[in-house]
Amino acid sequence: MIHAHEPFAVTNIGELVTNDPTFGDGLLGVLSNAAVIIDHGLITWVGSSSDVDRTIPRVDMQGRAMLPGFVDSHAHLVFAGDRAGEFAARMQGQPYTAGGIASTVEATRAATTDHLRMNLARRMQEMRACGVTTVETKSGYGLTIADEVRLLELSGEVSQETTFLGAHVVPAGITVDDYVEQVCGPMLAACAPLARWIDVFCETGAFDVDQSAQVLQAGAEAGLGLRVHANQLRHGPGVQLAVSMGAASADHCTHLDDRDIQALAASSTVATLLPAAEFSTRSAYPDARRLWQAGATVALATDCNPGTSFTTSMPLVIALAVREMHFTVEQAVWSATAGGAAALRRTDVGRVTPGARADLISLNAPSYQHLAYRPGVPLIDQVFIAGVA
Ligand code: NIG
Ligand code: FE
Repeated sequence: MIHAHEPFAVTNIGELVTNDPTFGDGLLGVLSNAAVIIDHGLITWVGSSSDVDRTIPRVDMQGRAMLPGFVDSHAHLVFAGDRAGEFAARMQGQPYTAGGIASTVEATRAATTDHLRMNLARRMQEMRACGVTTVETKSGYGLTIADEVRLLELSGEVSQETTFLGAHVVPAGITVDDYVEQVCGPMLAACAPLARWIDVFCETGAFDVDQSAQVLQAGAEAGLGLRVHANQLRHGPGVQLAVSMGAASADHCTHLDDRDIQALAASSTVATLLPAAEFSTRSAYPDARRLWQAGATVALATDCNPGTSFTTSMPLVIALAVREMHFTVEQAVWSATAGGAAALRRTDVGRVTPGARADLISLNAPSYQHLAYRPGVPLIDQVFIAGVA
Protein backbone atom coordinates (compact mmCIF):
# COMPACT_ATOMS: atom_id res chain seq x y z
CA MET A 1 0.00 0.00 0.00
CA ILE A 2 1.37 3.38 -1.00
CA HIS A 3 0.75 6.41 1.22
CA ALA A 4 1.19 9.69 -0.59
CA HIS A 5 2.78 11.32 2.49
CA GLU A 6 5.62 8.79 2.57
CA PRO A 7 8.34 8.60 -0.06
CA PHE A 8 7.73 5.88 -2.64
CA ALA A 9 9.30 4.74 -5.88
CA VAL A 10 7.80 4.09 -9.28
CA THR A 11 10.05 1.39 -10.70
CA ASN A 12 10.57 -0.76 -13.75
CA ILE A 13 9.56 2.00 -16.18
CA GLY A 14 10.47 0.58 -19.60
CA GLU A 15 10.91 4.01 -21.17
CA LEU A 16 10.73 7.28 -19.26
CA VAL A 17 10.29 10.64 -20.99
CA THR A 18 11.85 13.27 -18.71
CA ASN A 19 12.06 16.31 -21.02
CA ASP A 20 15.32 16.90 -19.17
CA PRO A 21 18.27 16.39 -21.53
CA THR A 22 20.62 15.78 -18.59
CA PHE A 23 18.95 12.39 -18.08
CA GLY A 24 18.99 10.97 -21.56
CA ASP A 25 19.24 11.47 -25.25
CA GLY A 26 17.33 13.81 -27.49
CA LEU A 27 14.66 16.40 -26.99
CA LEU A 28 12.74 14.11 -24.62
CA GLY A 29 15.65 13.04 -22.41
CA VAL A 30 14.52 9.42 -22.57
CA LEU A 31 15.76 6.91 -19.97
CA SER A 32 15.30 3.12 -20.22
CA ASN A 33 14.60 0.82 -17.24
CA ALA A 34 14.05 3.88 -15.13
CA ALA A 35 12.60 4.74 -11.75
CA VAL A 36 11.35 7.87 -10.04
CA ILE A 37 11.13 8.62 -6.32
CA ILE A 38 8.23 10.75 -5.15
CA ASP A 39 8.02 12.50 -1.79
CA HIS A 40 5.27 14.84 -0.64
CA GLY A 41 3.97 15.26 -4.18
CA LEU A 42 7.32 16.14 -5.68
CA ILE A 43 9.85 14.20 -7.72
CA THR A 44 12.99 13.87 -5.62
CA TRP A 45 15.07 11.44 -7.68
CA VAL A 46 15.21 10.05 -11.23
CA GLY A 47 17.51 7.23 -12.27
CA SER A 48 17.98 3.59 -13.06
CA SER A 49 15.43 1.16 -11.63
CA SER A 50 18.21 -1.12 -10.39
CA ASP A 51 19.55 1.67 -8.14
CA VAL A 52 16.38 2.00 -6.04
CA ASP A 53 16.76 1.03 -2.38
CA ARG A 54 14.96 -2.27 -1.71
CA THR A 55 13.26 -0.98 1.44
CA ILE A 56 11.33 1.86 -0.17
CA PRO A 57 7.66 1.14 -1.06
CA ARG A 58 7.25 0.78 -4.80
CA VAL A 59 4.77 0.78 -7.65
CA ASP A 60 6.03 -1.59 -10.36
CA MET A 61 5.32 -0.36 -13.91
CA GLN A 62 6.22 -3.72 -15.49
CA GLY A 63 8.01 -2.16 -18.40
CA ARG A 64 5.37 0.38 -19.37
CA ALA A 65 6.33 3.78 -20.78
CA MET A 66 5.88 6.85 -18.58
CA LEU A 67 5.94 10.53 -19.33
CA PRO A 68 5.05 13.84 -17.68
CA GLY A 69 1.30 14.37 -17.50
CA PHE A 70 -0.02 16.40 -20.42
CA VAL A 71 -0.18 20.17 -19.94
CA ASP A 72 -3.21 21.35 -21.89
CA SER A 73 -2.60 25.08 -22.14
CA HIS A 74 -5.75 26.02 -24.07
CA ALA A 75 -9.31 24.91 -23.29
CA HIS A 76 -12.77 26.38 -22.84
CA LEU A 77 -14.34 23.97 -20.34
CA VAL A 78 -17.21 25.90 -18.76
CA PHE A 79 -20.27 26.02 -20.97
CA ALA A 80 -23.70 24.47 -21.45
CA GLY A 81 -25.22 22.78 -24.48
CA ASP A 82 -23.40 21.51 -27.52
CA ARG A 83 -23.26 22.28 -31.25
CA ALA A 84 -23.28 18.82 -32.77
CA GLY A 85 -25.59 19.98 -35.56
CA GLU A 86 -23.17 22.74 -36.53
CA PHE A 87 -20.35 20.17 -36.65
CA ALA A 88 -22.37 17.80 -38.82
CA ALA A 89 -23.23 20.62 -41.24
CA ARG A 90 -19.54 21.56 -41.48
CA MET A 91 -18.62 18.04 -42.38
CA GLN A 92 -21.08 18.43 -45.26
CA GLY A 93 -19.29 21.56 -46.48
CA GLN A 94 -20.60 24.48 -44.39
CA PRO A 95 -17.79 26.81 -43.28
CA TYR A 96 -17.04 27.58 -39.61
CA THR A 97 -18.04 31.06 -38.56
CA ALA A 98 -17.61 32.39 -35.05
CA GLY A 99 -21.36 33.13 -35.11
CA GLY A 100 -22.11 29.83 -33.37
CA ILE A 101 -20.49 31.17 -30.21
CA ALA A 102 -23.69 33.15 -29.56
CA SER A 103 -25.75 29.99 -29.16
CA THR A 104 -23.34 28.63 -26.55
CA VAL A 105 -23.44 31.99 -24.75
CA GLU A 106 -27.23 31.78 -24.66
CA ALA A 107 -27.24 28.20 -23.32
CA THR A 108 -24.53 29.01 -20.77
CA ARG A 109 -26.28 32.09 -19.41
CA ALA A 110 -29.50 30.07 -19.03
CA ALA A 111 -27.83 27.18 -17.18
CA THR A 112 -27.76 26.89 -13.41
CA THR A 113 -24.39 27.08 -11.70
CA ASP A 114 -24.80 23.47 -10.52
CA HIS A 115 -25.38 22.34 -14.07
CA LEU A 116 -22.27 24.17 -15.29
CA ARG A 117 -20.27 22.70 -12.41
CA MET A 118 -21.43 19.20 -13.33
CA ASN A 119 -20.48 19.71 -16.99
CA LEU A 120 -17.08 21.00 -15.92
CA ALA A 121 -16.51 18.05 -13.59
CA ARG A 122 -17.32 15.63 -16.39
CA ARG A 123 -14.85 17.35 -18.75
CA MET A 124 -12.18 17.37 -16.04
CA GLN A 125 -12.73 13.64 -15.55
CA GLU A 126 -12.32 13.09 -19.29
CA MET A 127 -9.16 15.21 -19.28
CA ARG A 128 -7.68 13.15 -16.48
CA ALA A 129 -8.58 9.87 -18.19
CA CYS A 130 -6.74 11.20 -21.26
CA GLY A 131 -3.64 11.95 -19.18
CA VAL A 132 -4.00 15.71 -18.64
CA THR A 133 -2.59 16.78 -15.27
CA THR A 134 -2.62 20.58 -15.80
CA VAL A 135 -5.30 22.37 -17.79
CA GLU A 136 -5.90 26.01 -18.56
CA THR A 137 -9.55 27.01 -18.90
CA LYS A 138 -11.15 30.20 -20.15
CA SER A 139 -14.33 32.14 -19.56
CA GLY A 140 -15.87 33.66 -22.69
CA TYR A 141 -19.33 32.11 -22.89
CA GLY A 142 -20.86 34.56 -20.40
CA LEU A 143 -20.02 38.00 -21.83
CA THR A 144 -21.76 39.89 -19.03
CA ILE A 145 -19.98 40.84 -15.83
CA ALA A 146 -22.05 38.44 -13.70
CA ASP A 147 -21.73 35.56 -16.16
CA GLU A 148 -18.00 35.96 -16.76
CA VAL A 149 -17.47 36.07 -12.98
CA ARG A 150 -19.55 32.92 -12.62
CA LEU A 151 -17.50 31.05 -15.23
CA LEU A 152 -14.21 32.12 -13.69
CA GLU A 153 -15.32 31.18 -10.18
CA LEU A 154 -16.17 27.70 -11.46
CA SER A 155 -12.87 27.52 -13.37
CA GLY A 156 -10.99 28.42 -10.20
CA GLU A 157 -12.54 25.42 -8.45
CA VAL A 158 -10.68 23.05 -10.78
CA SER A 159 -7.54 24.88 -11.96
CA GLN A 160 -5.11 27.68 -11.12
CA GLU A 161 -4.75 28.36 -14.83
CA THR A 162 -7.83 30.49 -15.35
CA THR A 163 -8.19 32.93 -18.22
CA PHE A 164 -10.55 35.87 -18.63
CA LEU A 165 -11.86 35.81 -22.21
CA GLY A 166 -14.53 38.50 -22.02
CA ALA A 167 -13.21 39.58 -25.43
CA HIS A 168 -14.36 36.40 -27.14
CA VAL A 169 -17.03 37.98 -29.37
CA VAL A 170 -19.23 41.06 -29.07
CA PRO A 171 -22.57 40.01 -27.57
CA ALA A 172 -25.86 41.07 -29.15
CA GLY A 173 -27.26 44.49 -28.31
CA ILE A 174 -24.04 46.45 -27.78
CA THR A 175 -21.57 48.13 -30.13
CA VAL A 176 -18.03 46.83 -30.27
CA ASP A 177 -16.61 50.07 -28.87
CA ASP A 178 -18.98 50.05 -25.92
CA TYR A 179 -18.28 46.39 -25.28
CA VAL A 180 -14.49 46.86 -25.37
CA GLU A 181 -14.90 49.69 -22.87
CA GLN A 182 -16.87 47.37 -20.61
CA VAL A 183 -14.39 44.51 -20.96
CA CYS A 184 -11.47 46.81 -20.13
CA GLY A 185 -13.34 48.55 -17.31
CA PRO A 186 -15.86 47.00 -14.94
CA MET A 187 -15.72 43.47 -16.35
CA LEU A 188 -11.96 43.31 -16.00
CA ALA A 189 -12.15 44.79 -12.51
CA ALA A 190 -14.57 42.03 -11.47
CA CYS A 191 -12.73 39.24 -13.28
CA ALA A 192 -9.04 40.02 -12.75
CA PRO A 193 -8.99 38.73 -9.15
CA LEU A 194 -10.33 35.39 -10.43
CA ALA A 195 -7.94 34.97 -13.35
CA ARG A 196 -4.25 34.46 -14.01
CA TRP A 197 -4.47 35.32 -17.71
CA ILE A 198 -6.37 37.47 -20.19
CA ASP A 199 -7.09 36.33 -23.74
CA VAL A 200 -8.65 38.00 -26.79
CA PHE A 201 -10.01 36.61 -30.06
CA CYS A 202 -8.14 38.82 -32.54
CA GLU A 203 -10.00 38.08 -35.77
CA THR A 204 -12.16 39.72 -38.40
CA GLY A 205 -15.67 39.58 -36.95
CA ALA A 206 -14.41 39.49 -33.36
CA PHE A 207 -11.85 42.12 -32.23
CA ASP A 208 -9.50 44.02 -34.55
CA VAL A 209 -5.88 44.67 -33.72
CA ASP A 210 -6.46 48.01 -31.94
CA GLN A 211 -9.32 46.67 -29.86
CA SER A 212 -7.31 43.54 -29.04
CA ALA A 213 -4.30 45.64 -28.00
CA GLN A 214 -6.55 47.74 -25.77
CA VAL A 215 -7.91 44.61 -24.05
CA LEU A 216 -4.44 43.11 -23.57
CA GLN A 217 -3.00 46.39 -22.27
CA ALA A 218 -5.81 46.72 -19.72
CA GLY A 219 -5.29 43.10 -18.68
CA ALA A 220 -1.55 43.62 -18.25
CA GLU A 221 -2.20 46.70 -16.12
CA ALA A 222 -4.52 44.59 -13.95
CA GLY A 223 -1.66 42.13 -13.43
CA LEU A 224 -2.76 39.40 -15.83
CA GLY A 225 -0.51 37.47 -18.21
CA LEU A 226 -1.39 37.67 -21.90
CA ARG A 227 -2.63 35.08 -24.40
CA VAL A 228 -4.10 35.63 -27.87
CA HIS A 229 -6.39 33.65 -30.19
CA ALA A 230 -4.35 34.56 -33.26
CA ASN A 231 -4.44 33.88 -37.00
CA GLN A 232 -7.12 31.21 -36.73
CA LEU A 233 -9.53 31.79 -39.61
CA ARG A 234 -7.32 33.82 -41.93
CA HIS A 235 -3.96 35.56 -41.90
CA GLY A 236 -4.09 38.60 -39.61
CA PRO A 237 -2.16 40.71 -37.13
CA GLY A 238 -2.77 38.51 -34.06
CA VAL A 239 0.59 36.78 -33.94
CA GLN A 240 2.53 40.04 -34.36
CA LEU A 241 0.39 41.63 -31.66
CA ALA A 242 1.00 38.72 -29.28
CA VAL A 243 4.76 38.93 -29.82
CA SER A 244 4.95 42.70 -29.58
CA MET A 245 3.02 42.72 -26.31
CA GLY A 246 5.06 39.90 -24.78
CA ALA A 247 2.18 37.42 -24.62
CA ALA A 248 2.97 34.00 -23.18
CA SER A 249 1.28 32.35 -26.12
CA ALA A 250 -0.20 32.93 -29.57
CA ASP A 251 -2.80 30.24 -30.08
CA HIS A 252 -4.10 28.56 -33.26
CA CYS A 253 -1.43 29.99 -35.63
CA THR A 254 -3.28 28.32 -38.50
CA HIS A 255 -2.26 31.02 -41.01
CA LEU A 256 1.36 32.14 -40.60
CA ASP A 257 3.64 33.98 -42.98
CA ASP A 258 7.44 34.07 -42.75
CA ARG A 259 7.41 37.29 -40.75
CA ASP A 260 5.14 35.72 -38.15
CA ILE A 261 7.43 32.72 -37.87
CA GLN A 262 10.52 34.89 -37.50
CA ALA A 263 8.77 37.02 -34.87
CA LEU A 264 7.74 33.95 -32.86
CA ALA A 265 11.21 32.42 -33.12
CA ALA A 266 12.85 35.62 -31.88
CA SER A 267 10.50 35.94 -28.90
CA SER A 268 9.45 34.10 -25.77
CA THR A 269 5.88 33.85 -27.10
CA VAL A 270 4.99 30.19 -27.54
CA ALA A 271 3.20 29.14 -30.74
CA THR A 272 0.34 26.94 -29.51
CA LEU A 273 -1.08 24.74 -32.23
CA LEU A 274 -4.55 23.24 -31.92
CA PRO A 275 -4.87 20.48 -34.52
CA ALA A 276 -8.23 19.24 -33.22
CA ALA A 277 -9.66 22.64 -34.20
CA GLU A 278 -8.48 22.21 -37.79
CA PHE A 279 -9.84 18.66 -37.69
CA SER A 280 -13.29 19.72 -36.45
CA THR A 281 -13.61 22.72 -38.75
CA ARG A 282 -12.21 20.87 -41.77
CA SER A 283 -9.49 23.49 -42.17
CA ALA A 284 -6.02 23.15 -43.66
CA TYR A 285 -3.40 22.32 -41.02
CA PRO A 286 -0.38 24.61 -40.57
CA ASP A 287 2.99 22.98 -41.25
CA ALA A 288 4.81 22.87 -37.91
CA ARG A 289 8.16 22.14 -39.57
CA ARG A 290 8.48 25.84 -40.39
CA LEU A 291 8.16 26.76 -36.70
CA TRP A 292 10.53 24.07 -35.46
CA GLN A 293 13.14 24.88 -38.13
CA ALA A 294 13.04 28.57 -37.23
CA GLY A 295 13.54 27.75 -33.56
CA ALA A 296 10.15 28.77 -32.18
CA THR A 297 8.80 27.14 -29.03
CA VAL A 298 5.75 25.09 -29.96
CA ALA A 299 2.95 23.82 -27.72
CA LEU A 300 0.02 21.54 -28.48
CA ALA A 301 -3.35 21.86 -26.76
CA THR A 302 -6.91 20.57 -27.15
CA ASP A 303 -8.84 23.88 -27.46
CA CYS A 304 -11.70 21.84 -25.98
CA ASN A 305 -14.86 23.86 -26.74
CA PRO A 306 -18.30 23.08 -28.18
CA GLY A 307 -17.75 24.94 -31.46
CA THR A 308 -14.44 24.10 -33.04
CA SER A 309 -12.94 21.23 -31.05
CA PHE A 310 -15.08 19.21 -28.67
CA THR A 311 -12.34 16.85 -27.54
CA THR A 312 -10.44 16.40 -24.28
CA SER A 313 -7.94 14.00 -25.85
CA MET A 314 -4.30 15.07 -25.91
CA PRO A 315 -3.38 11.69 -27.45
CA LEU A 316 -5.66 12.55 -30.40
CA VAL A 317 -3.99 15.97 -30.61
CA ILE A 318 -0.56 14.31 -30.68
CA ALA A 319 -1.63 11.87 -33.39
CA LEU A 320 -3.05 14.69 -35.53
CA ALA A 321 0.03 16.85 -35.01
CA VAL A 322 2.26 14.04 -36.24
CA ARG A 323 0.07 12.93 -39.14
CA GLU A 324 -1.21 16.31 -40.33
CA MET A 325 1.23 18.97 -39.12
CA HIS A 326 4.50 17.08 -39.66
CA PHE A 327 5.67 17.04 -36.07
CA THR A 328 8.04 14.20 -35.29
CA VAL A 329 6.59 11.99 -32.56
CA GLU A 330 9.25 13.38 -30.19
CA GLN A 331 8.31 16.97 -30.99
CA ALA A 332 4.60 16.27 -30.50
CA VAL A 333 5.13 14.63 -27.11
CA TRP A 334 7.42 17.49 -26.04
CA SER A 335 4.89 20.11 -27.17
CA ALA A 336 2.05 18.39 -25.29
CA THR A 337 4.06 18.39 -22.04
CA ALA A 338 7.03 20.78 -21.79
CA GLY A 339 5.64 23.01 -24.55
CA GLY A 340 2.32 23.41 -22.71
CA ALA A 341 4.23 24.24 -19.53
CA ALA A 342 6.21 26.92 -21.42
CA ALA A 343 2.96 28.36 -22.77
CA LEU A 344 1.77 28.69 -19.17
CA ARG A 345 5.18 29.91 -18.01
CA ARG A 346 5.40 27.03 -15.58
CA THR A 347 8.63 25.27 -14.64
CA ASP A 348 7.15 22.89 -12.06
CA VAL A 349 5.21 20.77 -14.56
CA GLY A 350 5.88 19.21 -17.96
CA ARG A 351 9.17 17.61 -16.86
CA VAL A 352 10.22 14.62 -14.81
CA THR A 353 13.14 15.98 -12.87
CA PRO A 354 13.96 16.50 -9.17
CA GLY A 355 11.92 19.40 -7.81
CA ALA A 356 9.11 19.10 -10.34
CA ARG A 357 5.58 18.23 -9.26
CA ALA A 358 5.02 14.48 -9.48
CA ASP A 359 2.58 14.63 -12.40
CA LEU A 360 3.21 11.45 -14.34
CA ILE A 361 1.29 9.15 -16.62
CA SER A 362 1.93 5.56 -17.60
CA LEU A 363 0.90 4.04 -20.91
CA ASN A 364 -0.40 0.61 -21.73
CA ALA A 365 2.46 0.53 -24.21
CA PRO A 366 6.23 0.14 -24.14
CA SER A 367 7.00 3.49 -25.81
CA TYR A 368 5.70 7.06 -26.00
CA GLN A 369 5.70 6.54 -29.77
CA HIS A 370 2.51 4.53 -29.41
CA LEU A 371 0.64 7.77 -28.61
CA ALA A 372 0.77 8.61 -32.32
CA TYR A 373 1.19 5.10 -33.67
CA ARG A 374 -2.03 3.81 -32.08
CA PRO A 375 -4.54 6.60 -32.74
CA GLY A 376 -7.86 6.42 -30.95
CA VAL A 377 -6.75 3.67 -28.57
CA PRO A 378 -7.13 4.43 -24.83
CA LEU A 379 -3.47 3.97 -23.88
CA ILE A 380 -3.44 5.96 -20.65
CA ASP A 381 -2.91 3.58 -17.73
CA GLN A 382 -2.20 5.37 -14.43
CA VAL A 383 -2.30 9.11 -13.83
CA PHE A 384 -0.41 10.62 -10.88
CA ILE A 385 -1.12 14.21 -9.93
CA ALA A 386 1.28 15.54 -7.28
CA GLY A 387 2.12 11.91 -6.56
CA VAL A 388 -1.45 10.77 -6.04
CA ALA A 389 -2.82 8.14 -8.44
O1 NIG B 1 -10.71 28.59 -29.90
N1 NIG B 1 -11.87 31.11 -31.79
C1 NIG B 1 -12.51 31.38 -30.84
N2 NIG B 1 -12.88 30.56 -29.86
C2 NIG B 1 -12.96 29.13 -29.93
C3 NIG B 1 -14.18 28.68 -30.60
C4 NIG B 1 -15.38 29.07 -29.87
C5 NIG B 1 -16.64 28.49 -30.39
O2 NIG B 1 -16.82 28.27 -31.59
O3 NIG B 1 -17.49 28.24 -29.51
C6 NIG B 1 -11.72 28.53 -30.54
O4 NIG B 1 -11.74 27.95 -31.65
FE1 FE C 1 -9.85 28.61 -28.13
